[in-house]
Amino acid sequence: MTYNPHIMSWVYIEDISAHLDRDVEVRGWVYNKRSSGKVRFLLVRDGTGLLQATLFSEDKDHPLFEVFDRLTQESSVIVHGRVREEKRAPGGYEMTLIDIQVLQVAQDYPITPKEHSTPFLMSHRHLWLRSQKQHAILQVRAEVVRAIRNFFDSRNFRLMDTPILTPSACEGTTTLFETQYFDQKAYLSQSGQLYNEATAMAFGKVYCFGPTFRAERSKTRKHLIEFWMVEPEVAFATLEDAIQLGTDLVVDIIGRVLEKRKNDLDVLERDTGLLEKVRSPFPRLTYEQVIAQLKERGSAIEPGSDLGAPEEALLAEIFDGPLCLTHFPAAIKAFYMQPDAHRPDLVLGVDIMASEGYGEVIGGGQRIHDLELLEKKIKEFNLPAEAYAWYVDLRKYGSVPHAGFGMGVERMVSWLCGIKHIRETIPFPRLLYRIYP
Ligand code: 4AD
Ligand code: MG
Repeated sequence: MTYNPHIMSWVYIEDISAHLDRDVEVRGWVYNKRSSGKVRFLLVRDGTGLLQATLFSEDKDHPLFEVFDRLTQESSVIVHGRVREEKRAPGGYEMTLIDIQVLQVAQDYPITPKEHSTPFLMSHRHLWLRSQKQHAILQVRAEVVRAIRNFFDSRNFRLMDTPILTPSACEGTTTLFETQYFDQKAYLSQSGQLYNEATAMAFGKVYCFGPTFRAERSKTRKHLIEFWMVEPEVAFATLEDAIQLGTDLVVDIIGRVLEKRKNDLDVLERDTGLLEKVRSPFPRLTYEQVIAQLKERGSAIEPGSDLGAPEEALLAEIFDGPLCLTHFPAAIKAFYMQPDAHRPDLVLGVDIMASEGYGEVIGGGQRIHDLELLEKKIKEFNLPAEAYAWYVDLRKYGSVPHAGFGMGVERMVSWLCGIKHIRETIPFPRLLYRIYP
């Protein structure tokens, strides 16, 4: 293998338009190739895009033809040539080849252009990531993450990293991952919220952004075992403030992705018509209003139960944009939710639902700030008082109303990309019964 890292003309395909009519080099992998008479077409990907490199010669014994013939899918190469405009080529530019340097000829790459089963692709996730659609989805994901960070940073929210190993549960005890913490039991974090309530009292407005874990025993298209969540928390904020912030965040992310990742959405053949129409504010419905609407449409949902995939699908038939659902029965929500002053059986929670049946993307609301009420709830939910002592402290020393929410990154990405199964929205999904690769 000859490899000379000192050549100065190395460019990335995404920047190729800035190098029109210049001799440059692209370092990447063979995506595809074809020949037609005296022309050879090499489709090269470098992680930032696809470039067609062409070779034309009257001489059938041209030495580069021999090199071309040896190349297989995913062989690693450095191609050297002149950049030209070519409307018919992917991306609108192509390279007229001067030289091909082969780093490695790949043998029998397992993912071929034919159809493969999902279990096969999932077992080859480490390679599947190179495929055009998977690549496009993860480009959108990176843009979503960037949009989230920009959104909160530009609004002066302080980033607070909350712990992953915790002694207590945030979102109910049924989906906890238990682990050993020396001679103590610990759990992987389901949410950074409780810690963020502490940091919000120290910094005013904060957000945490990291992986969260739920030992969900159900196999659905919308649940991952490990997923990424961004969680803002604001001191002195109410349910209304949380709704406003969540709506602004959703609108901001959609706008940014439509603007910056149009090419990727095109690769995914995403019809963005409904996304383009998303505007603030979203229609608002209380839980009771939702149940009434669903019943009217023939849903069998029992009042007092949580909305599932069939209900989400039905809502998508009624509304063509996102929705804000509020005022849920206390019994189906977490212990920390502030009850409604007029209806103590309901809590000041909000779920923001995506359109087109992609389900809940945001869950949050106003937190209990009254000491006695919180202590009562901790007992009612059978939570161990010692583990929550620090959390209760927050209600003893300058307690204030406060609110926040969590947004699941993967749910946002599946909605934006129009991907029905959430497993494709993270590089290496952790699923029920699957931890490889
Ligand atoms: O509604 P959830 O459970 O809310 C909380 O965890 C709050 N403590 C957040 C807060 O107020 N700070 O989860 C919030 C969001 C959901 O709306 C959904 O987008 C996502 O996290 N989510 C999941 N995404 C993928 N897989 C799972 N198993 C998910 N569970 C929740
Ligand atoms: Mg929720």
